[in-house]
Amino acid sequence: MTDKPNSPEARDIAYHLHPYTNAKKHLEAGPLIIDRGEGVHVYDNNGKQYIEAMAGLWSVALGFNEKRLVKAATEQMEKLPYYHTFTHKSHGPVIELSEKLIGMAPVPMSKAFFTNSGSEAIDTALKLIWYRSNALGKPEKKKIIVRNRAYHGVTIAGACLTSLPANHKSFDLIVPNVLRMTAPHHWREAMPGESEEEFATRLAKELEDTILAEGPETIAAFFGEPVQGAGGVVVPPATYWEKVQAVLNKYDILLVADEVICGFGRTGTMFGSTTYDIKPDIMVMSKQLSSSYLPASALMINDRVFEPIMEESGRIGTLGHGYTASGHPVVAAVALENLKIIEERDLVGNAARMGERLRNGLAALADHPLVGEVRGVGLIAAVELVTDKANKTALETPGALGALVNAHLQEAGLISRAMADAVAFCPPLIITEGEVDDLLARFKTGLDKALAELPREALPA
Ligand SMILES: Cc1ncc(COP(=O)(O)O)c(C=O)c1O
Repeated sequence: MTDKPNSPEARDIAYHLHPYTNAKKHLEAGPLIIDRGEGVHVYDNNGKQYIEAMAGLWSVALGFNEKRLVKAATEQMEKLPYYHTFTHKSHGPVIELSEKLIGMAPVPMSKAFFTNSGSEAIDTALKLIWYRSNALGKPEKKKIIVRNRAYHGVTIAGACLTSLPANHKSFDLIVPNVLRMTAPHHWREAMPGESEEEFATRLAKELEDTILAEGPETIAAFFGEPVQGAGGVVVPPATYWEKVQAVLNKYDILLVADEVICGFGRTGTMFGSTTYDIKPDIMVMSKQLSSSYLPASALMINDRVFEPIMEESGRIGTLGHGYTASGHPVVAAVALENLKIIEERDLVGNAARMGERLRNGLAALADHPLVGEVRGVGLIAAVELVTDKANKTALETPGALGALVNAHLQEAGLISRAMADAVAFCPPLIITEGEVDDLLARFKTGLDKALAELPREALPA
């Protein structure tokens, strides 16, 4: 903290309530103020450079100074800075973006709907699913299945579908009938000697048993991130998605792919659904849709979802849902330019190539005393930190080791994210070989410093 009462740090403490921050600790610790960005780097207000190895919040695909996005925004601002899409109104950018997204979809999709955040898109998906069930004359078909460690946002419905304790504690949850399955994390959840395929078979059986116990006619949808992100970068075991989809199809349950992190190249193909051969009925997208230069999110629905909704809205007289900024023209123009650049520069291919280099580099640290598991796919990875490899445990206080390592990484000029005792890496898709190597070197430095700080008795003899 600073002793200058009028510094930006002091004013931040005085006036700003931060999301996802310990508000009490912030009074002492104060903010890290980021001043500017360039490529995969950001610089704080003291001029210190960091590799932004989380692409902000898993989102800045193009890095931090893409001039073409600035130009796209400026041009659209000058032509039509705002218009809405309620009551049959439309405009060029939203029409073009809708067509573009439907054209990119890995499975036949019917319509795109626009929102402003991942959470709002998840809320919208849930509301459309309930609306559909009512439209089909199946008012009992409302229950939703999610997995442990799922992250689907923080609006009331989003938080209810999320399975992380911090999003539930002291917030009253109001969405009833959310059923939670085991997280598909082989390293943590598999039984001794259980192969990935056997584990996936067991999870599919857990899903089917739950559906039968609840009554298949009461289950509306299964929400899943192709790779769980905020829950710790949980990469599904081999055959998992194939087996889960077989169960969902058997009982006529909709599948919502939450592509908020995975979408637009993160897993080394355009969508997580492509990587895992997922055939969703609804796809939820945000983050890399606009590289987060402006808030953008969307969902795509197939005809199975659209047709009954269309009929029901005809009966009622409207689809009574939408946001003032749904399909905002400046956001749509930036998203279109962003997608164009991702395709032109083959950033999806780059994510696959750089991801492999990153994962190989992390895997080379497997013998480090603090490294328990290295996991990832495409350009998203996590290192599970342990102090006791044999028992897969870390320090006594959950999350303490993750926080310690994360602080040393920041000191070493590497912005990562600690999720319990794992640290995540999800750099911009534009990252180069040299920058991946630099990221790995800074990671090793931070890891060694954290190790040096641990008391001897924290590690096994
Ligand atoms: C998979 C997933 N879904 C939904 C969300 C919520 O998005 P937002 O923070 O834009 O509301 C996130 C955010 O990280 C996410 O990772």
